[in-house]
Amino acid sequence: MLPTSMKAGGFYKSHSLVQKMVIEKSLPLIAEAAARVPLPDSGRPFTIVDYGCGEGKNSLIPVGAIIDNVGARQKGLDFLVIHNDLPSNNFNGLAQDIHADGEGSYLVGKGLERRIFALLAGCSFYGQVAPDASVHFAFSSSAFHWLTDIPEGSIADHVFHWGATAEEGKRIAEIGARDWLTLLARRARELAPGARMVITMAASEKVTAASGEPNSAHRITNLLNDVLLEMVKERRVDRRRYRQFAFPILMRTLAEVVAPMQGPDAPLAGAFSVEHATVHRMNCPFTEAYKQTGDRQGFADEIVASVRAFTEPMLIKGLLLEERQDRDGREARRLADEVYLRMRQRVLARPEAYPFNVVQLTAVLARR
Ligand SMILES: C[S@@+](CC[C@H](N)C(=O)[O-])C[C@H]1O[C@@H](n2cnc3c(N)ncnc32)[C@H](O)[C@@H]1O
Repeated sequence: MLPTSMKAGGFYKSHSLVQKMVIEKSLPLIAEAAARVPLPDSGRPFTIVDYGCGEGKNSLIPVGAIIDNVGARQKGLDFLVIHNDLPSNNFNGLAQDIHADGEGSYLVGKGLERRIFALLAGCSFYGQVAPDASVHFAFSSSAFHWLTDIPEGSIADHVFHWGATAEEGKRIAEIGARDWLTLLARRARELAPGARMVITMAASEKVTAASGEPNSAHRITNLLNDVLLEMVKERRVDRRRYRQFAFPILMRTLAEVVAPMQGPDAPLAGAFSVEHATVHRMNCPFTEAYKQTGDRQGFADEIVASVRAFTEPMLIKGLLLEERQDRDGREARRLADEVYLRMRQRVLARPEAYPFNVVQLTAVLARR
């Protein structure tokens, strides 16, 4: 099994501008949900969980917004915040950001009005993260599109699911449906009656004439696959391993996301009502900046670093590392440098061809 993991040591935090933008777009939905969510019995804390929180400051934004909006409804309400991610996540960096004295933490300036307790939960969101009926507000951004796993050899001629054959795609859709049902069933147990869950995740949609892109970050991540194929042809990357490897990611459609909760036979229709569910598109923020500044190098650096932040650890572990010959992983890291350098060269040559356009699914679910 290939554990999902972001590039650590602050790299993800520094190169997750797109994810931050997506969170900021969800703030009005957070405010609306926070106005409706039932408050706990007197004396009990209001519990928030951010699932797949990542290593850094992005997680502080939604949590801060939830605390501000819910806190405004009841003076002296205590908050319990659980930041959840896999054990491989850089929780140390996150803890430092939460408890930093500087700007940006939801703890800053709020301690006198209300008590906030922050906990870190290093476990998979495919299991139960909190006790039954204990969570009042759940949030997750850019995380629920990561699957439990994709078995080796699931996609022979691409490293992302949209490059699968029809037969391969069917199998991945089945894994995706099974995982999504598991994830929702776990949330159904831990969310209290009336709790809200605000979700944003990368999605797939029909290609439009304007965008020409069927899923989030399509062109720039396709470029990663093109570069890998080039290196396979040059025998720098092993062909057999390339055919075994795929990123455990699935950008679902809107229909796939609501299916377990809507319709007469939907298994979780009794657990959740779907208050909001849309797929929307956002232009690449780096392309917009490039149009204004003309800074080609800056554009290429930033866009490639953004892809590197969420692909490199899995690429090294799943494809580039030959454990028997490369015990300390130096050769794999060198190959990874080369992969991202080649991507950068291609982007530099044709910046307009490689935007990081976002196709994002946003949903608000209410626990019945
Ligand atoms: C792209 S990052 C998003 C981080 C943050 N929410 C943000 O918006 O910047 C995806 C995160 O999901 C986490 N993740 C993936 N699968 C997970 C799982 N099964 N359980 C918990 N976290 C998971 C990854 O470790 C990673 O930190």
